[in-house]
Amino acid sequence: MSQDEHRAQRREAPEPEEGARGVPKLVIVWIVCLIVWGVGYYAWQIGKPMLGGDSRSVPVVAETGADAGGGPDGGAIYSANCSACHQATGMGIPGAFPPLAGSEWLLADPAIAVSIVHDGLQGAIEVAGTSYAGVMPNFSATLSNEEIAAVLSHVRSEWGNDGSAVEPALVDEHVERFGERGPWSEEELVETFGKP
Ligand code: HEC
Repeated sequence: MSQDEHRAQRREAPEPEEGARGVPKLVIVWIVCLIVWGVGYYAWQIGKPMLGGDSRSVPVVAETGADAGGGPDGGAIYSANCSACHQATGMGIPGAFPPLAGSEWLLADPAIAVSIVHDGLQGAIEVAGTSYAGVMPNFSATLSNEEIAAVLSHVRSEWGNDGSAVEPALVDEHVERFGERGPWSEEELVETFGKP
């Protein structure tokens, strides 16, 4: 008899006290804190410019220029517009496309490279000891002045090249001086800027 009684007791479920136990005060305080912080942060951000991941302000980006990562990406512009001919290695294709790596035309007065990219180049030209006679298209319609400066800053400092960065202002000056004109030739470049 007592055996059966124990078994019956053991089958009993515990008292349903769980539902009656409130949420601990500490947790409520914590949740309130989070809500206050969230709403406060949202309110604090109202009216501030949305910068995404780049928390540098606009004037800082403008000051540091294209090569510091703020303006157009010279490397990406090169891949999209130049590498088909001059190749990702900057070595060009012997006999067809001249190299940019170690090119005297690219590394001399940056006004020369600005002229070539803005207006195009055709006719015979000697680059790094080899003659080429091809046609390079102009980029005045495809790339903005800022983008031309960015891609030139990129190629002048890639593949061991040690040219200085090119400021967009130099491209602006080029347009002021020459306007929209046809492609350059080697002789015209030498006449205008001197032999590199
Ligand atoms: C369609 C092919 C083609 C594309 C695209 C092209 N180039 Fe050229 N580039 C040439 C050719 C061809 C020459 C040589 C022209 C000649 O023989 O008169 C040249 C010459 C040059 C030169 C002077 C010579 C040298 O090797 O330094 C520079 C600088 C240059 N290109 C830079 C660029 C840049 C920067 C871009 C991209 C914005 C670009 N090119 C896009 C074909 C191209």
